Amino acid sequence: MRYLEGSRVHKKPPSTSRKPAPWRIALIANLKDEIDWGPDAPPDAGSEFDRRDTLEAIAGALEEDGHWVHICRGDDSLPEVLANLRPHICFNIAEGVGGDAREAQVPALCELLGIPYTASQVLTNALSLDKTRTKRIWRDHGLPTSTFQEFHSPEDNLDPALSFPLFVKPSREGTGMGVDTSAVVRDEKALRQRVDYVLRAYNQPALVEAFLPGREFTVGFIGNPGDPSRRSRPWLYDEDGYHFFPVLEIDNAISISPGVYGHDAKGFDIGVEGAPGYLCPADIPNRLRLRLIDLTKRASKALGVRDVSRIDFRAGTDGRPYLMEINTLPGLNPEVSDLCIMAASEGMAYPVLITEILYLAAERYSLPFEERVHEQTMTEGAHRSMATPGAPWGYASRRQQT
Ligand SMILES: Nc1ncnc2c1ncn2[C@@H]1O[C@H](COP(=O)(O)OP(=O)(O)OP(=O)(O)O)[C@@H](O)[C@H]1O
Ligand SMILES: [Mg+2]
Repeated sequence: MRYLEGSRVHKKPPSTSRKPAPWRIALIANLKDEIDWGPDAPPDAGSEFDRRDTLEAIAGALEEDGHWVHICRGDDSLPEVLANLRPHICFNIAEGVGGDAREAQVPALCELLGIPYTASQVLTNALSLDKTRTKRIWRDHGLPTSTFQEFHSPEDNLDPALSFPLFVKPSREGTGMGVDTSAVVRDEKALRQRVDYVLRAYNQPALVEAFLPGREFTVGFIGNPGDPSRRSRPWLYDEDGYHFFPVLEIDNAISISPGVYGHDAKGFDIGVEGAPGYLCPADIPNRLRLRLIDLTKRASKALGVRDVSRIDFRAGTDGRPYLMEINTLPGLNPEVSDLCIMAASEGMAYPVLITEILYLAAERYSLPFEERVHEQTMTEGAHRSMATPGAPWGYASRRQQT
């Protein structure tokens, strides 16, 4: 167990009449390289998990705002850790482990324990992880998403509504897992081979959809439906309660996987050879920008998204944007995550992004802004605790709390 001793609580002067309160925050995450996936796992298993520097950055932003941060693993140690820690709120970035709705695991536990948490709730996180079900909901709302079919066997009959080229991907993965240039299939033989690969390697249905050949955009926002006038930074939000970041265009032409923003392309640092181009704000007509924002708002409302999200689009053969998928737990690494690139491009400081996500959630739960962590706990020195790999992250902090 390692304590980051000596971190000071910086109580910034409030920017409005609503004074941010110091809360005891559980920052919940799954870290890369901490799970042994076993010999049968695909090579990109665990790619969507977070890097340690992401946790450091988020914890730093929260501490800078005056909070006490305890970093917790989103695994089977979490029920006991949370029950003992009793945080005022959880900052949830955990992707979860196993099952068909892993991104809903931490929200479900928080609901069970009655602890507030950031970002979307159980049902939304479960649905949004499942790309096929998400597309069904969008289609039902009359929103544009490419024609699709879910394959449970390589022998399934191909829906006559689908014609080649098609795109094949795992139905419940992220960070480009299972996606490379071979995901584009041009005939029946390649389709069935790729479906077979996805079913075997990822042990889940394969989503087969019409290939979208056009430009790729991603649209991120913070916010919730409702009157933003009582928020700590009300000027950030539109009248519906949302703040949209500048649209980010991904230029896949120059990447290691031309035309496809897949797992390998996502692994490169920005600007390095093999990485796609990131253009923010995208050079697009205002009409298209407004269309993307409107679709993002409607697609998010259809799913009940909360606090933060990012939706990926691609243009079809008709040049119009189609909804590809939603990330209700978008990456929050200050250097490489798409949402942070967007926020930086409009000049929003990283700590503002992080604390706004926190306050949006706090507002939903009517968390009393004046509530304070016991003064003794706040001044003992170890405002943050963090475990080394393999150690039970919650243990020392639990002792410290007693
Ligand atoms: N129907 C499609 N037509 C063309 N390209 C597609 C299609 N679906 C996905 N892609 C390409 O594959 C990439 C990854 O797909 P998708 O966004 O669904 O996966 P992901 O792993 O969930 O992404 P994220 O990293 O955003 O979580 C897209 O960014 C896009 O480049
Ligand atoms: Mg995506």
